[in-house]
Amino acid sequence: MAEHISVSKISNYVGQDIILKGWVYNRTDKGKLAFLLIRDGSGFVQCVAFKGDLTPELFETISKLPQESSVIITGSVREDKRAPGIPGGYEVGIKELQVVQAAELDYPMSLKDHGVDFALDNRHLWIRMQSQWAILRIRVRVMSAVREYLDGQGFFNLDTPILTPAAAEGTTTLFETEYFDEGSAFLAQTGQLYNEANIFAFGKVYCYGPTFRAEKSKTRRHLTEFWMLEPEIAFCDLDQLMDIEEGLITHIAQSVLKDCSAELKFLGRDISKLESVVGPFPRMSYDDAAKYLIDLYEKETDPEKKELLKFEWGMDFGAPHETEITKLYDKPVFVYGYPSAVKAFYMEPWPDRPEVCKSVDLLAPEGYGEICGGSERMSDPDKLLARIQKEGLPEEAFKWYLELRKYGSVPHSGFGMGTERVTAWMCGIEHIREAIPFPRTIKRIYP
Ligand code: 4AD
Ligand code: MG
Repeated sequence: MAEHISVSKISNYVGQDIILKGWVYNRTDKGKLAFLLIRDGSGFVQCVAFKGDLTPELFETISKLPQESSVIITGSVREDKRAPGIPGGYEVGIKELQVVQAAELDYPMSLKDHGVDFALDNRHLWIRMQSQWAILRIRVRVMSAVREYLDGQGFFNLDTPILTPAAAEGTTTLFETEYFDEGSAFLAQTGQLYNEANIFAFGKVYCYGPTFRAEKSKTRRHLTEFWMLEPEIAFCDLDQLMDIEEGLITHIAQSVLKDCSAELKFLGRDISKLESVVGPFPRMSYDDAAKYLIDLYEKETDPEKKELLKFEWGMDFGAPHETEITKLYDKPVFVYGYPSAVKAFYMEPWPDRPEVCKSVDLLAPEGYGEICGGSERMSDPDKLLARIQKEGLPEEAFKWYLELRKYGSVPHSGFGMGTERVTAWMCGIEHIREAIPFPRTIKRIYP
């Protein structure tokens, strides 16, 4: 009896009979031959039906199989360098084929380029296409690399609530919902504050889950629902935090390179750009970055570009600023010590420079920009309370958070990493909406 195998393992079965269970991705007919490109979730492989090997009825059925029909194929595996597929290079000579369902003929996602809106309206089908499959497989590897790395470093994965009583990252981007007799609840913008409670019980923790931002931003880097990884570490200062981020991002890039070479190749990714993603990463102060940007702005002669590059100390970076800074290096760059006014309330002030905080963003090259944002946390309960009041945040909701500073407070730090931004960068794709199975943006909640 032939064994049911995955396309991804096909190289182990050359010369043997196997069974594949999957779907017809594409069909081409050449007289006595019919070529089926079959996908089974783990990969894409060419299967060939030769008229002389099969009953006339079966050959006839195969030559008319509509795209996306589900099938079970028995056949023999041979190596053939020219055979298309992911990974490609193998071919299955069909001996038997059972049609599980012949798909209807009006399949919307034919194998040609579709407009973005059409593709997004058909996201439930679009994810079957090779490009989308490759991107989402890389996302899976990014996420498993994260867990592998942190679990290996002794972090505990303790997930944090999605329904929360107050803003944790700023009040302007909250999704609000009614919560029984308790008033309003908000979808979590971050799990950080709960992570901060967890470290005092577990030392080093992370949460990894969906995160919600009612951001009006309509950019290629913003979703309203995205998956954020957030590690938090007790007894950790800003430099040690950067060491952890460096180790993690290096591990992600190297894991994707090692295990997703077929996907990267299909996407046409320039591998050399990822090969250079190995720590240490350059560390630049906000002050130095600001000097550099002001200088660029002053030297720029094209009025349009000049407008985009406009910069003065105290401003947060826009995408064009981040791009200019990342152009200086072929690996990600840390920018630390931002003005407190542009960052969240919980960041530790810089000693003797309260207008600056111990924050750090990690900016990815090739125009991808901020992939991680983090900081050392404010440890003084009085300063923290003052900041909460200044931001107009509801004090009662933060009672427990302030208590963390009373019973064994220590310097501690953490950061958040956007899964879709990292995935988009690994894949070299333009927009992060393709880096999540079902994207949510301000204009889209279907399908
Ligand atoms: O910089 P952010 O807002 O930081 C926090 O939420 C902190 N509480 C994290 C922490 O210290 N525990 O978000 C962190 C990262 C960003 O660098 C970005 O990669 C991603 O989350 N991100 C988004 N990704 C997609 N769409 C959005 N709207 C995003 N907002 C942030
Ligand atoms: Mg940020």
